[in-house]
Amino acid sequence: MNIDGATQVGRIATEHPISTRVFARYGIDYCCGGGVPLAEACESRGLDAERVVEEIQRELGPHAGAEERWGDAPLPDLVAHILLTYHQPLKEELPRLEAMARKVLQVHQDKEPEMLTELLSVYLGIKADLEPHMEKEEQILFPMIQRGQGFLADGPVAVMREEHEVVGLALKRLREITNDYEVPPRACNTWRALWHGLAALEESLHEHIHLENNVLFPRALGD
Ligand SMILES: [Fe+2]
Ligand SMILES: [Fe+2]
Repeated sequence: MNIDGATQVGRIATEHPISTRVFARYGIDYCCGGGVPLAEACESRGLDAERVVEEIQRELGPHAGAEERWGDAPLPDLVAHILLTYHQPLKEELPRLEAMARKVLQVHQDKEPEMLTELLSVYLGIKADLEPHMEKEEQILFPMIQRGQGFLADGPVAVMREEHEVVGLALKRLREITNDYEVPPRACNTWRALWHGLAALEESLHEHIHLENNVLFPRALGD
């Protein structure tokens, strides 16, 4: 596959999962925003598309072919992978980050009151969206896919895609509020750990949503 500025971000991530390291490095959304050409995604983040292509090529070099490919794995294996790698850790991580965000706001309210208040409220929105979202995937959609009835799941898939979109926008907002997770000089350890945890949450959600939107759902629906 030839990668250049015209290639869609989501296609690059599907064909070469290792490219998502570069996307994560630059905060490029390849799951919900995956439908746009790379050049456009770079422009909206003020990045030089040629340099990003070069970095992707570098990542591909020694690893090409060794990465896990979910494009042709059996669908029940892909569902099991999503549950184990993303859903289970998220259920522990979401309350942990909430406690940290509350603590940082409580202790440092005097330093950055507006930013920390908005951060907590956007974060709580993400958490309140994701918990029932995963429940619906686990109780309704994934069992249909595992029974081989994914082709009947147009409705649930459309709802899941919309919910992914909402979470994707909220993650973007968190990145803006935190100035790309730049740690303020006066930040305490909990504050630092919160920034690190939120950046890791974003990285893992981008991978998670990408696998659902661009690999699992199209395959289950038989697109
Ligand atoms: Fe999920
Ligand atoms: Fe999902």
